[in-house]
Amino acid sequence: MPRIGDKAPNFQAITTQGNINFPEDYIGKWVILFSHPADFTPVCTSEFMTFASLEDKFGKANCKLVGLSIDGLYSHIAWLRTIKDKIEFNGMKNIEVKFPLIEDITMEVAKKYGMIQPGESKTQAVRAVFFIDPESIVRAIIYYPLSLGRNFDEIYRALIAMQTADAFSVATPADWNPGDDVIVSPAGTCGVADERMTSTDGLDCKDWFFCTKKLDKQEVLDTVLKN
Ligand code: BEZ
Repeated sequence: MPRIGDKAPNFQAITTQGNINFPEDYIGKWVILFSHPADFTPVCTSEFMTFASLEDKFGKANCKLVGLSIDGLYSHIAWLRTIKDKIEFNGMKNIEVKFPLIEDITMEVAKKYGMIQPGESKTQAVRAVFFIDPESIVRAIIYYPLSLGRNFDEIYRALIAMQTADAFSVATPADWNPGDDVIVSPAGTCGVADERMTSTDGLDCKDWFFCTKKLDKQEVLDTVLKN
């Protein structure tokens, strides 16, 4: 089961958008690889409609979406057609899911990624979200139980926060969003700790180990939303 910092395990799969070779087909892009318990279930349907409606927004942040469940290809196709033809949710209707949905009837991929958590279900994947960076490194993982639909604002926020941390060599505090102050790396020597308490070079230090600085919202957006 991959952990943060590991290379994303590779696999080949059949999807609703043709075959994929993962992660090779996605090098140079962020990917959100996510699992859901089953096709034709209501929470999953609400999530797919939400993710599909946000696909362009994630695309602007250089991020592709890839879904997975332990269902076959024809079930996936039938479910996605039903969603488009019949389901309305939260003001969304006629939603076409254009990102790939992996068939994983053998559970090969789900097992590789630790998406089967037997205490929750032995036959259905939990709601896992793997954030994989352009070098195919797993950067964050979120798991939700079967009954809990995901918060897509948080998934997007996490993606933008990691891209900001990479681009500006900073960290992001609790509940950070673009435009909020960012955290600068902690002092690594006693001398730097002293400087942090006296310097006026744009840092706001609450104490030697806790310093923030302003990072302009537009600069963040111009940097991460290049696509
Ligand atoms: C759902 O997506 O609605 C769901 C799936 C599995 C268990 C509970 C709910």
